[in-house]
Amino acid sequence: MLLTIPHILSPKDLLAAGKALAAAPWTDGRSTAGIQAAQVKNNEQLPDDCEATRSIQAMVLKGLEGNATFFSAALPKKMFPPRINRYGGGSNFYGNHVDNAIRAVPGNAQRVRTDISCTVFLNSPDDYDGGELAIADTYGEQLIKLPAGHAVLYPGTSLHQVRPVSRGHRVACFFWIESLVRGDDQRRLLYELDMNLLRLRERHGETLETTALTGTYHNLLRMWADT
Ligand code: NI
Repeated sequence: MLLTIPHILSPKDLLAAGKALAAAPWTDGRSTAGIQAAQVKNNEQLPDDCEATRSIQAMVLKGLEGNATFFSAALPKKMFPPRINRYGGGSNFYGNHVDNAIRAVPGNAQRVRTDISCTVFLNSPDDYDGGELAIADTYGEQLIKLPAGHAVLYPGTSLHQVRPVSRGHRVACFFWIESLVRGDDQRRLLYELDMNLLRLRERHGETLETTALTGTYHNLLRMWADT
């Protein structure tokens, strides 16, 4: 499931992120890529332990925490700490690749299975040309380029790329989620059931049927979740 979630970051967050990024120590993005990915990766990344990374991580996690759509769609079990990358100038693309299945969290023994990938755009699409996130999905290639502060979720299994940036810089935050529900098809069914229940409640209030279907939602979640 490919899903756009608007307004993860507020205009105030984005202003603070812009200030933090102005003095940020960018490094070669290839240092964290797998062997296949390193051959097609050409971007810049922030170190995990710099001030800008820490402040942007905190604001993104806070933005996600309050977002019901994110929780319903991702059913997060573990999250990889968000990283920040930049495309532009001589380091302006990341060719087709599939992300590594397992990621070790820097600084501790935890591992995250990358069921879902998430990108949060940190600057305006007016700031740069190109830089679309191109995701191969069942219905063909989807091109994603969102306003600052908006996020996209897509299955970790997808072949994807960031197309070359030909003007300006594209700055984004990205991370992976290990979901309570491993399969994308099952997560999608749960998300659709949850969202439609929400709409039914808005229209009709609580009814016998919404109560029963909420039970069905939880019974499916119980069957499929791995805690
Ligand atoms: Ni990737």
